[in-house]
Amino acid sequence: MKHATGFSVALVMALCLTMTSLVNGRIGTEFPFRDVHQRRRPDDAFNGQWLASNYQNGSTAPNAIQGDSPGQTLVIGGTGADDDSQRPGCDTAFIGTAQVQGSPDGGWQALPQVVGFDADRNTSFGNAVMPIYIERGKDFSKIKRVIVAQPGKPRDSWKYSSLFRNSLICAVSNSSMAVTLADVLIVAPIWLGESDKMAGAAQENDLYWTDGGFSVGSLTQGPGGQQTSSFEVMDVLIKRFANQNEFPTLNSIVVAGHSLGASLAQRYAMLRKTDDTTESLVKYWVGNPGAYVWPAAGPSRPVAPSDTSCAAQIDDWAYGIGGSLPAYATADVSKEGVEATYQRYRNRTIQYALGLLDDGPGDTHCEAQYQGNSHLSRGQNMQKALEAMDGGIPATQSFNYVPNTSHQDYLMMSDPVSQNFLFVEGLDDKRTATSSVGSTSTGTTGTDSSSTGTSTKKGATGQTTSGQPSSATALIIGCNLTALAAFAALAFMAFIPIS
Ligand SMILES: *[C@@H]1O[C@H](CO)[C@@H](O)[C@H](O)[C@H]1NC(C)=O
Ligand SMILES: *[C@@H]1O[C@H](CO)[C@@H](O)[C@H](O)[C@H]1NC(C)=O
Ligand SMILES: *[C@@H]1O[C@H](CO)[C@@H](O)[C@H](O)[C@H]1NC(C)=O
Ligand SMILES: *[C@@H]1O[C@H](CO)[C@@H](O)[C@H](O)[C@H]1NC(C)=O
Ligand SMILES: *[C@@H]1O[C@H](CO)[C@@H](O)[C@H](O)[C@H]1NC(C)=O
Repeated sequence: MKHATGFSVALVMALCLTMTSLVNGRIGTEFPFRDVHQRRRPDDAFNGQWLASNYQNGSTAPNAIQGDSPGQTLVIGGTGADDDSQRPGCDTAFIGTAQVQGSPDGGWQALPQVVGFDADRNTSFGNAVMPIYIERGKDFSKIKRVIVAQPGKPRDSWKYSSLFRNSLICAVSNSSMAVTLADVLIVAPIWLGESDKMAGAAQENDLYWTDGGFSVGSLTQGPGGQQTSSFEVMDVLIKRFANQNEFPTLNSIVVAGHSLGASLAQRYAMLRKTDDTTESLVKYWVGNPGAYVWPAAGPSRPVAPSDTSCAAQIDDWAYGIGGSLPAYATADVSKEGVEATYQRYRNRTIQYALGLLDDGPGDTHCEAQYQGNSHLSRGQNMQKALEAMDGGIPATQSFNYVPNTSHQDYLMMSDPVSQNFLFVEGLDDKRTATSSVGSTSTGTTGTDSSSTGTSTKKGATGQTTSGQPSSATALIIGCNLTALAAFAALAFMAFIPIS
């Protein structure tokens, strides 16, 4: 195991070095991007590693190591329609989603080991830790952008770490997109639920929430008496990636999700506390959420539904910023004021991506019916609501309507307009003086009274919390009929509209 890991890391690093030395070509004037961009050359390491023609369906994935969970072989061909292959036009291999034991409702029994990712437990909150999947073998000193990939309702972070990576591979293969694999780091927070705690996927010190609680900023259920908001976890992760000791060339962080993951991204965009050092770094990609936190208060909503039983609550969290807000935000919103909170949201950089065929019902709550009757109509109504406000649609926000696409995660995130937002636009923007952080401290300190302080372990030195037991054993899972059944159920669930 150790040898295989060491060898593989060495191999990846060698490939990275080769690649960096090969991609110094400059982009010509035919591309509408500012600055100097690195551009893939036809002979660079990308081709050798990922070009579809170098593989057959079922081949072992590049960078695979011993212990990687079954199911992650390469898929060549396909349509991307079931999150199971590249979309047409991506001339690259697609890494299949890891098989996993358990179920969204019964709980996940163990975290799968994802090809090319580590399950990192270096972000701690008191004695508790927040596990994240993080791409293995990338040179942090070269990373320009981090994608914080959110899972869907099934808390399937192994699937979304892999899907966003597949989309990045596709974008890099497109010679019109000025991005290389070395520019972007994919990470995925592993939001565990109570059922995963019961079923076994959560280690003793791992944070866990009610099963969907991560998406509304709830406090953890544990471990122990730990009370940490999922939004505070997002703040701490963003500070970790913004730290220029570890990521000296980073200039942007994209919080990206589809469906319930999009809900987290949009709600976080609404309530994220102002932090001058990271504010200008953060962007949000919001794909087909089940419902929205509406961008303006008041009784007016686009739809008059038949069920009016919640008419008095349509502004309540998580459909507006009234009612009982998450503990994370109560003091902040009362200090800033509701109007300033809406203005802050309007000032944030957001791409809303909407599938033109996504007529699924999404969030079925009464409050959501006031926003529209489907994912698509709610998104269109959200656009109208922003248009109707003073200043219209903010210059920092845009709507990307994706043709011929329903509630299909992969087709949404691999759409070229989505890919340009996720991976390309602003990639070489310069970081401003206010956003320079990390010259003295290697960690972050919790500012929220609901946490007992946070810290970030860095590398082999500077451990600030007691070490976690090796997760390698826990990560090795077998392939049996149960796993296959669960995988099939998961694949089915991923295709039906969920909020
Ligand atoms: C690739 O192989 C998998 C089984 O490993 C199969 O389900 C899938 O249909 C194949 N895809 C193509 C495009 O042949
Ligand atoms: C629409 O998408 C389906 C797969 O989801 C694909 O088979 C079909 O060719 C697409 N049609 C067009 C016009 O792009
Ligand atoms: C490649 O990128 C360009 C520029 O963003 C885009 O217009 C085009 O559709 C992309 N091609 C494919 C096959 O995705
Ligand atoms: C808008 O956001 C930018 C950074 O993205 C920040 O510099 C500026 O102060 C913000 N403006 C307001 C009014 O919040
Ligand atoms: C996490 O910490 C371990 C041990 O401290 C270290 O070996 C590893 O490189 C760290 N991972 C990241 C992604 O920083």
